[in-house]
Amino acid sequence: MGIRIGYLTDIHLRKEVSGTSIIETRHCRKMAGLLPSALARMCRESPDMIVCTGDVLDVSTGPGVDQDLRLCKKFFDDCGTPYVVLPGNHDPLPDDFYRVFPVPEKRLLLNNCELIFFHEDACFNGEQSSKRSERSLHTMADILMRAKCCEEATLLFQHYVIYPDRNEGYPHNYQNDDEIRSILEQSDRQLLSISGHYHSGIPMMQKNNVSYFAGRAFCEKPYSCYIINASEHGIFIEELETAKEIQ
Ligand SMILES: [Fe+2]
Repeated sequence: MGIRIGYLTDIHLRKEVSGTSIIETRHCRKMAGLLPSALARMCRESPDMIVCTGDVLDVSTGPGVDQDLRLCKKFFDDCGTPYVVLPGNHDPLPDDFYRVFPVPEKRLLLNNCELIFFHEDACFNGEQSSKRSERSLHTMADILMRAKCCEEATLLFQHYVIYPDRNEGYPHNYQNDDEIRSILEQSDRQLLSISGHYHSGIPMMQKNNVSYFAGRAFCEKPYSCYIINASEHGIFIEELETAKEIQ
């Protein structure tokens, strides 16, 4: 059976929020125009669900943030496909973020595939990197150690990077990425971990029987979004370069 996911990450939208990013490659002010087209483009591929792994907004507090978050939610609502949006380090903290977006289930079974969402991970107390909490690690281990019933593939979604190491110049990985990896490696499922946060993206790669992937940031050219196909036959990721189509 298998599942088809429309996927994008790191939108960094600014519309009501003034200014733009000091990083010139982030086209924050174009996002309100491009996001609806990208969502429509993914929907033409008939995905079962759309997932965004965070940094919906470019700034987390201040004038315009609430309006911009509500605008993004409207874009997702309007595309008419079930969706999950996770907060990133540029977004309001999870408690505030989920006053606007619907809180995802921790675990979802769809077409014999299992989706796990780490929407509670964040950079707390001004830290530059995230640490997955003990509680969240336990929940993850519990889910992954359960007897496999009918899952063809398990996809784990989070904002921060688990593997490979991408901490040069800026700490993109979880502080406890090794702990997370060792739990993943004990599972006998076909696992793909999907992250945002590392704007150049990381092609799908395997380490000790676990697959890892990070999407390119949507806010930067070529404004990539993806279709992820997962089934008992394997996991395949198709990049939709939307730059020409949606400008
Ligand atoms: Fe980002």
